[in-house]
Amino acid sequence: MKDIANQYEILFITGNKHKYSEVLPIADRLGFRILMKPGYKLEIQSNKLEEISLTAALEAYKYLKKPLMVEDAGLFIDALNGFPGPYSSYVFKTLGCDGILKLMTGITTRNAVFRSVVTLIYPPFIIVEQGVCPGTIASEKRGERGFGFDPIFVPERDNRTFAEMSIEEKNRYSHRAKAVRKALQKLKKLLEQISDINLNAP
Ligand code: IMP
Repeated sequence: MKDIANQYEILFITGNKHKYSEVLPIADRLGFRILMKPGYKLEIQSNKLEEISLTAALEAYKYLKKPLMVEDAGLFIDALNGFPGPYSSYVFKTLGCDGILKLMTGITTRNAVFRSVVTLIYPPFIIVEQGVCPGTIASEKRGERGFGFDPIFVPERDNRTFAEMSIEEKNRYSHRAKAVRKALQKLKKLLEQISDINLNAP
């Protein structure tokens, strides 16, 4: 079964090396070869991660015409009515972790979720999968690893921030790991079905 997936490469449309390092072991375990492809992710303005992810994937496919994957994520903070959500990238660049901690000063209900939507284009298949990681916003930054809001996000069932975890540990909980795993597992199943059909063809 591993060989079926491994025959094909999938481009991961991202310039984010951290995301790539997180996805690599998941893909590897399922037998897929993932290559990082920066410079092709169109960022549309939308309040829906699904729309952002699917549009970016279709746009990248127009140019590259190769199997590819796009992932779009956001941090949704309950006490801020879901802010920064789909605008997480801009908010990280402008306010950063410190800005979010400032906005949360005096707020005791610190629930938040990370959401990720993966779009996988592998003709004739288009697979869209979501991953959610519930947790809380820490009261201060902790840890040196990871990227983005990792130093201030504590996933449920742990008391460390993502930035205090190894990639393998973060992948046990993370939104991205869940979405990527689901999408690749689904693709693998479909590829296996196709190969069975071909093998059994008269
Ligand atoms: P993107 O548009 O998918 O790159 O994600 C938007 C922003 O959300 C990123 O720039 C990060 O600041 C933040 N983000 C997304 N996923 C993660 C994560 O796994 N850890 C920390 N921050 C993240």
